Amino acid sequence: MTRTLRSVGVDLGDRSYDILIGPGARHGLAALLPVGARRAVIVTQAGIDVKVEPGIDHEVVEIGRGERSKSMETVGELGRAMARFGLSRSDVVIAVGGGLVTDVAGFAAASWHRGTPVVHVATTLLAQVDAAIGGKTGVNLPEGKNLMGAFWQPHAVICDTETLSTLPPEEWRSGFGEMAKYAFIGVDGLPGMPLEEQVAACAALKARVVSADEREGGLRMILNYGHTLAHALEAAGFAAEPGDVLDQVGAGPAAGPAAGHPLPRPQPVPLPLRHGEAVAVGLVFAARLARALGRIDDGRVREHDEVVSAYELPARLPRGAEPAQLIEFMLRDKKAHGELTFVLDGPRGVEPVAGVPSGLVTEVLAELKGP
Ligand code: GLY
Repeated sequence: MTRTLRSVGVDLGDRSYDILIGPGARHGLAALLPVGARRAVIVTQAGIDVKVEPGIDHEVVEIGRGERSKSMETVGELGRAMARFGLSRSDVVIAVGGGLVTDVAGFAAASWHRGTPVVHVATTLLAQVDAAIGGKTGVNLPEGKNLMGAFWQPHAVICDTETLSTLPPEEWRSGFGEMAKYAFIGVDGLPGMPLEEQVAACAALKARVVSADEREGGLRMILNYGHTLAHALEAAGFAAEPGDVLDQVGAGPAAGPAAGHPLPRPQPVPLPLRHGEAVAVGLVFAARLARALGRIDDGRVREHDEVVSAYELPARLPRGAEPAQLIEFMLRDKKAHGELTFVLDGPRGVEPVAGVPSGLVTEVLAELKGP
């Protein structure tokens, strides 16, 4: 283990756990497994070339790639593999991958023998700063995304920043978009920090939020900053789903965060947007909507633009995205309850705001239409 590892705690009483962050953190896996676990099922995907050594008898099971694999069928296949391997409730499931893998393996672990420990080894930036932390697990149904799931807190989370070196550029952009939201919900100076510090700062904030509001009764909603528009873009087909992770092969980051660009610089990215890129557009939009509602001033809107620009993320609606269609999808969202609700910045910080007039939303969306 190297000396640069950091540990962040999620404080949930007897379900508390640590997040181990830094280069080579995966080598600390064996020490983080539950005491008494004798066997492990490692759940991963083809193309994720991250080997882990649990130090106990184990079997590797690969699940499919893409949102279609985030299904009850995959959970059933995992259950059958666990049965064949003889995994008991005192053993452990180890998820090695991005958000799709941690969601599916986490749900399978929550269901296996009514709850078996799971350790997440998050290998994408998005999973390291968001998906692997906090216990949200689940799968899609033909009727909708993430409709079946459970809160099942992991036994430990590993964010090995070395595993990011093989991420394709679009996965970096997706992670940066999810990261950018943290700059407005409590992490100052984010884009200027070294990457490991950024991951640690975001993971630490998420850990604090989850410790305070595990089941999203209130505070946890701030983690959805920028997501209302992002989900509408995803539902309308302009953005990929968060779990649609591509092959973890290829070059490292095309461009790291470059602090200090004065103005938003929309990037010509190919459609569909990655999840985090859609979140970036959602952040720029949420800032303008908050200003239109008199909640923040021009300076704060500029800060949003600067962070999104520093991460070289898109700041405009994709070509063809129409305000009326996006509003329709926002109203259909399972959390909408028939009115337009956004998580917005304001004098008390970021918070949910219900009953936003659709005319205003249309105007602000129209401002963000690309050339
Ligand atoms: N990704 C938002 C949450 O975990 O609550």
